Amino acid sequence: AAAEKGGFKHFMLKEIYEQPKTITDTISGFFSDLNNPVYNEIKNIQNIVIIACGTSYHAGLVGKFWIEKFVKIPTIVDYASEFRYRDFPVNEKTLIIAISQSGETADTRFSAIDARKKSAKVLSIVNVVGSSLSRESDFVIYTYCGPEIGVAATKTFTAQLITLLLFSLKAGLERGNLTQEEFEKYYNDIIHLPHLVNEVLKQDKAIEEISYKYHNVKDFLFLGRGLNYPIALEGALKLKEISYIHAEGYPAGEMKHGPIALIDENLPVVCIVPKDSLYEKMISNIQEVKARKGIVISVSDSQDSHLLSLSDNIIKIPSVENENLYPIVSVIPLQLLTYHIATILGKDVDQPRNLAKTVTVE
Ligand code: G6P
Repeated sequence: AAAEKGGFKHFMLKEIYEQPKTITDTISGFFSDLNNPVYNEIKNIQNIVIIACGTSYHAGLVGKFWIEKFVKIPTIVDYASEFRYRDFPVNEKTLIIAISQSGETADTRFSAIDARKKSAKVLSIVNVVGSSLSRESDFVIYTYCGPEIGVAATKTFTAQLITLLLFSLKAGLERGNLTQEEFEKYYNDIIHLPHLVNEVLKQDKAIEEISYKYHNVKDFLFLGRGLNYPIALEGALKLKEISYIHAEGYPAGEMKHGPIALIDENLPVVCIVPKDSLYEKMISNIQEVKARKGIVISVSDSQDSHLLSLSDNIIKIPSVENENLYPIVSVIPLQLLTYHIATILGKDVDQPRNLAKTVTVE
């Protein structure tokens, strides 16, 4: 078993470190499939519904931003277990995007099957070739991660993000929202991602030190805005899953409507604050946290003295050419932070209690 972990202590850590490779493989896999018939179908589509569970749902929340921006088709995202039991109107101009690492999650599969019966088209994004969902869909795009053993999804999440971004760009090209030159410009930024992720992995020791400072707390808050708001949700989910510390992810601007009441000198607040178009908005939210004595852990590429003075800890991420790429970079430190907190607490990170890798019950 030690050999299977390639020298790493846990599958989760091995899988976190595999991401430069799985991102590279997923990009190549995507480009070997540019004739996927979904790009013809996308010309007929009027609305998109993304359905998924768990971490795959968070990938869907990020994907919605890219689809709106590049494909310009109104899109909603829902938990498969919710979507299934409501009367959402679909027709033959509806594209359901079902995201699932395993392709076996019952709620996701049956949501897709039901929507197809009502004449919607289904595109699935799956990691396991030949899985049930892939066979039950009109179109499939694969992520190329190989098997993921750790119950908490890591490398499959970043692969789902890359796939959703590339899908949005290609579909945008097909619908005439993007020129070939613009598409290639994005591609040239995207191929730097494996290198950028490697840069974040070099922060591992620094992140472990921060984990030693805060592993004994009872609650954590994760904040982000825009594309990085779902990353805050994902950070909180990872921490709950593997360390059993209560955590909440919130869109930073919504904090004043509730979670701000929880902030005191004992609450670590992980703030995802890349130098993007929402940077100044995040800074004012961080000021609100600091004014209530919260412990600020910033994940940022900014060197601004203002952010440094507000932050108790900074986890550095590299700057990206194009702000659409930030979520793929900013989730990596959260994977490492939650991994270290859980291992310091002595938890079984690969096999957390009560959780299953694949949930085939409804
Ligand atoms: C389980 C796993 C999660 C995963 C979710 C959805 O809860 O523990 O890691 O995100 O199922 O799985 P899927 O295979 O559909 O992506």
